[in-house]
Amino acid sequence: MELAHLAAEIARHNALYHGADAPEISDADYDALLRRNAELEDAFPHLVRADSPSRQVGAAPPGHLAKVAHALPMLSLDNAFAEGEVAEFIARVRRYLRLADDEPVALTAEPKIDGLSCSLRYERGRLVLAATRGDGATGEDVTPNARTIGEIPQSLTCEAPELFEIRGEVYMAKSDFAALNARLLAEAADPAKARQFANPRNAAAGSLRQKDPAVTASRPLRFLAHGWGEASALPAETQSGLMAAIADWGVPVSELLVRVETLDDLLAHYRRIEAQRADLPFDIDGVVYKIDRLDWQRRLGSVGRAPRWAIAHKFPAEKAETVLLAIDIQVGRTGKLTPVARLEPVTVGGVVVTNATLHNADEIERLGARPGDRVRIQRAGDVIPQVLEVLTRGEKRPAYVFPAECPECGSDAVRAEGEVDIRCTGGLICPAQRVERLRHFASRHALDIEGLGATHIEAFFRDGLVQSPADIFRITAAKLLERERWAEISARNLVAAIDARRAPPLDRFLFALGIRHIGEVTARDLARRYRSWENFAAMVAMMLARRAELEQAVGETDEKFRTRAAKELAAIVETPGVGPEVAQALADFFAEEHNQAVVADLLTQLAPADVIHETRVSRVSGKTVVFTGTLEAFSRDEAKAQAEALGAKVAGSVSSKTDLVVAGPGAGSKLKKAEELGIETTDEAGWLAIVAESE
Ligand code: IVH
Repeated sequence: MELAHLAAEIARHNALYHGADAPEISDADYDALLRRNAELEDAFPHLVRADSPSRQVGAAPPGHLAKVAHALPMLSLDNAFAEGEVAEFIARVRRYLRLADDEPVALTAEPKIDGLSCSLRYERGRLVLAATRGDGATGEDVTPNARTIGEIPQSLTCEAPELFEIRGEVYMAKSDFAALNARLLAEAADPAKARQFANPRNAAAGSLRQKDPAVTASRPLRFLAHGWGEASALPAETQSGLMAAIADWGVPVSELLVRVETLDDLLAHYRRIEAQRADLPFDIDGVVYKIDRLDWQRRLGSVGRAPRWAIAHKFPAEKAETVLLAIDIQVGRTGKLTPVARLEPVTVGGVVVTNATLHNADEIERLGARPGDRVRIQRAGDVIPQVLEVLTRGEKRPAYVFPAECPECGSDAVRAEGEVDIRCTGGLICPAQRVERLRHFASRHALDIEGLGATHIEAFFRDGLVQSPADIFRITAAKLLERERWAEISARNLVAAIDARRAPPLDRFLFALGIRHIGEVTARDLARRYRSWENFAAMVAMMLARRAELEQAVGETDEKFRTRAAKELAAIVETPGVGPEVAQALADFFAEEHNQAVVADLLTQLAPADVIHETRVSRVSGKTVVFTGTLEAFSRDEAKAQAEALGAKVAGSVSSKTDLVVAGPGAGSKLKKAEELGIETTDEAGWLAIVAESE
């Protein structure tokens, strides 16, 4: 019959698509098969097969899970630890929205579940895709696995919009986690080698991200919704209203979610949840507050990866006592020597801790830490555990002496004036720095080369197969097969994963270079500003030329000169968020000949992809706008964010390059100057009309 035929056909195409990487039919034809299957199942529900594609879609991919781009980014949250920070969060929202003092700000408060976030896409009420968060922009397709979770409905019960993505947390209850570990222990042939999960969060992540959905099905996973992503319509105007709608559709929503209107009520709910924490069936690490009104959420938008309209109020860190066994020194990508405390294993908040950071030499001195000391440590969420204090201060033991040489390459380790960190001066002769740079280059937030983790990089570096980033792109399957433990399929997969990164997005490429101070956010700002590697390189050339000019003119290159020059460099970079320190780091990096050589070599192997502008088209796209006077309907920050979203540049002063001046009440010299120069001016209402035009 047709359903059996469809099940077999879809399974075959899944295997061809995922497994052999050789699909026989187009995506549209594949979707048509799935649709036909769904239609038949809708009409004849009693005929739904156990092996129906709607229940278990997707053959297990051989090496890894397929990637999916999120329709809307999956954001993370900023944290607050003290009540004052929560008050400041609300004050910030008020300022941003320019709310009157007596305007109430309603918020929702709900537990922050310690699981992993997952986006469930429902089309016409049916679950069609489940994806993990990944890096926020791209996640992993875990659809067949999510279908095995009882709390994730295959179909929404009531009328839901045509398209709705429900986002929430996949987690494991504490008791189920304990039972799972016990089962894994009992089933292991050798109990000493039994797989054990460190905590429910890891158990949930490990269970959801399985190649074989049958394994996921055997794991007791649960789901709680906490938001949504892409939606064809929103059936409410508030966060609380939408969460109620999601609950009506049959998806679990926290019973501890409340809507409150004052800071006092918010904090009271926090304390209520904190008091119940130990008795709750699942792990939580704080309470999440969200602005209730969705129109305000939209106006607030997000900065970097976190929305301005939500915050996680974390519970205080958990503390424990143990013995400091030794202090090891790790050498980072930029040569920074970081002392790491090796500890006698101790359980802190359900996790066994054996290492803690000691930050730097000053911190060791401040603590007075010496190997053999009893210490108090703390662990908060995902943060690396910290040593808080030494409990055996009075006891006689020699003080710890920070090494004067790099433990990896023997080069001098020095501390630059005004810096806290001690750095290895070995640069590229230091193997630790080179390996760290390579590891960073391939890592998830940089080039994201699947399957090329720290272990492989270290081995490849040791054997001379990979010495520089460009060498990664010269790896061939043949070379891998000469190595031990490499088989045809894994070798081919790695080479394919490397090849897939020959046109990396410009921001990832810039971040991957591992330049000091160029984090992901700055890399993105630079990519957005320069759009192509060519433009960026031209700007760098200008910086280097200008600095050489200044050096010649002044004839001095001391710290004071560098600070002054850095300001000029920042003016050349001309990117919001890039100040003198970052500009200087960029110039320092590209001034080094060996760095230039590494980049040039790399560019023989790959070509960063240009940034396609993602801003909305509007009357002010590409124009320069100046805001002046008092803005009443919105804050300066919001105005700036609006302008940038419309593709405009915001400047602080009026010049012949200005295209539009938005003047609020009390505007003075800037407005006058604009009028003198014949520049277009408007008021707040006029600006709002421009914003509205492009929505
Ligand atoms: S809201 C737009 N609510 O915490 C904001 N997140 O640290 C997106 N999480 O990635 C998240 N419980 O995986 C939200 N009640 C809750 C949550 C929650 C747990 C996770 C979520 C997010 C992470 C951010």
